[in-house]
Amino acid sequence: MTDQTQAELEALYQLAEQAAENAYAPYSRFRVGSALRLSNGEIVTGANVENVSFGLTICAERAAVVRAISQFGPKIRIGAVAVANLNGLPSPPCGACRQVLAEFIEPDAPVVFSAAEGTRTMAFSDLLPLGFEMKLK
Ligand code: THU
Repeated sequence: MTDQTQAELEALYQLAEQAAENAYAPYSRFRVGSALRLSNGEIVTGANVENVSFGLTICAERAAVVRAISQFGPKIRIGAVAVANLNGLPSPPCGACRQVLAEFIEPDAPVVFSAAEGTRTMAFSDLLPLGFEMKLK
């Protein structure tokens, strides 16, 4: 994993918890926040935004990724990710968010998320070992 101190990851996780305060989750009541540390030093957060049609719901991680590109452009790289919720439940990033993160994240970036034991940190490449790729000839 990249050289980020435990203190930096804890601080990122706290920002994810704060971001979850802004969640719009009237249907599931599961309030999620995410914080991305970019390799340019910036931190970008996101919260889940639900929709009455359910399927149009946007997860906190994807909200943060879209915000990061919108603010800093398509060349950003993600060096660390935190995902937290206000429900006190384990919540590793969903599969769809892993695939979206894969587009912009360093493979060895640490991902810290809520777990039964409090938090758990894994390298991104261990969370999504065989993501979809398209290398056309
Ligand atoms: N959710 C996230 O924000 N991130 C995930 O990785 C998984 C799920 C949200 C979507 C929905 O608003 C709520 O959690 C319940 O699934």
